[in-house]
Amino acid sequence: MKEEAFLEALAYIKARVEQELENLLPEDPSPGGRVVSAMRYSLLSGGKRLRPALCWWGAEAVGGRGEDFLLFACGLECLHTYSLIHDDLPAMDDDDLRRGQPTCHRAFDEATAILAGDGLQALAFELFSHPELLKKTAAERLLQALHLVAQAAGIHGMVGGQMADLLAEGKSVPLKTVEYIHAHKTAALITASVVSGGLLAGASPQEKESLWKYGEAVGLAFQIVDGLLDLTGEEKTLGKTVGADLKKKKATYPAVAGVEEARRQAQKLIEQALCALKPLGERAEPLRALARFVLSRQN
Ligand code: IPE
Ligand code: IPE
Ligand code: MG
Ligand code: MG
Ligand code: MG
Repeated sequence: MKEEAFLEALAYIKARVEQELENLLPEDPSPGGRVVSAMRYSLLSGGKRLRPALCWWGAEAVGGRGEDFLLFACGLECLHTYSLIHDDLPAMDDDDLRRGQPTCHRAFDEATAILAGDGLQALAFELFSHPELLKKTAAERLLQALHLVAQAAGIHGMVGGQMADLLAEGKSVPLKTVEYIHAHKTAALITASVVSGGLLAGASPQEKESLWKYGEAVGLAFQIVDGLLDLTGEEKTLGKTVGADLKKKKATYPAVAGVEEARRQAQKLIEQALCALKPLGERAEPLRALARFVLSRQN
């Protein structure tokens, strides 16, 4: 699949996800409605929507219809956006810019941003367990996918990785620690996104294994590139403050291994990801294009 066709397909999924999220989360006039405004502010302000796309194409890679699992894909975006809001808080990365606009706690306030993150995490699980999904997949498959995502989001995945990331700040850590951080804070949810799509569509154990290997490799490469973009990116395109990792002395791949080695490693991981998809044939083309996009992306 050519990059142009990939970008078009991604834009289509992005539009579908954004329309659905808009419908699922209308402004709320009740006394607590401010938190809904903050959730909408962060959720509907751009973002590449790669995790929903991974879920969609994970389903298609095993012969399913991505569209059938739109609600689940939207849940992944809610979970991801929650992690970004909390990641930006003063107690964590203390960032001012996200998706090209002031971070949630800057636009609102810290307490509201904490609640917006909490609200998005709960909304994510509301969507993962949405009764409508049972019209498209068996309860057993849905439960498997839900369990997988919950594991990836918590202490065995993203939350554990975020903790390790904060503890490594300002320290000189070995590359193994950086890999642990990347695998947990980023690759876990990326893997769960693509594998959950596969599971919902009834992936065989072999197909699940292919998607799993693909997700892990793409996830690690994704975070290495995130570290590179912090050094070499353009603030306007990136939508985040450039040099934020340096300022915080974050344990990133380029900081520990050097820029050239980081580029080489990201390249190698993408080759691994492509290799993992071989058994899935033609139907995995969008996932292949997404892997290549992870290397070339500028935001
Ligand atoms: C940013 O994720 C956080 C990381 C895991 C590096 P994305 O780069 O996917 O952010 P959005 O969703 O496109 O804003
Ligand atoms: C955060 O990694 C990963 C998350 C789980 C949110 P970063 O802290 O590097 O993400 P950015 O650069 O702020 O998007
Ligand atoms: Mg962080
Ligand atoms: Mg951050
Ligand atoms: Mg970063």
